[in-house]
Amino acid sequence: MKVDLYEKIWMWGVAVMLSLFFASTAIAALRDSIHPPSHVETIDPARVMADARFRAPGVSVDGNGRVEARIIGMTFAWLPAELTVPAGTAVTFRVTSMDVTHGFEIVRTDGQTMVLPGYVSQFTTQFDEGEYLVTCNEYCGIGHHTMAAKLHVVPRTAWKAPGVAMAPMPIALPDGAGGAR
Ligand code: CUA
Repeated sequence: MKVDLYEKIWMWGVAVMLSLFFASTAIAALRDSIHPPSHVETIDPARVMADARFRAPGVSVDGNGRVEARIIGMTFAWLPAELTVPAGTAVTFRVTSMDVTHGFEIVRTDGQTMVLPGYVSQFTTQFDEGEYLVTCNEYCGIGHHTMAAKLHVVPRTAWKAPGVAMAPMPIALPDGAGGAR
């Protein structure tokens, strides 16, 4: 089969580019362990408030000292609107939506994830001391630009593990529900 020289150059060019793209993805995933910021965990978006995983939105710490922040996104707010976490400490964020797709973004940090109704988005990161703005970076409706929250990052020594998370729903926690401690 006769292939025109010009076409051959393009074929080789495309082959080289594709190899580079696949190789860079494979290296990032296998060598550097860079993966999408979440996992597949589903939730009934109509029953988020009643779900044991989100009955107590806010920050808590478990028996092993792991800090977790649970946040619910809705048009047009993040619940809770203020979070306080310790500096230089890994914090696992677990975020879900009660209605439409939102984008949870802690401005000027690597803390960011898409928030889809029906799924729990999760990522773990840590911060330097300071005040951070949390915005919604996924257009979600007329009040999109007002959907914001605040993250206070305080020195470890000044941080007190919340005894009771800011639970808006006075629902009793069943044993081992993973809520406020
Ligand atoms: Cu929520 Cu934009």
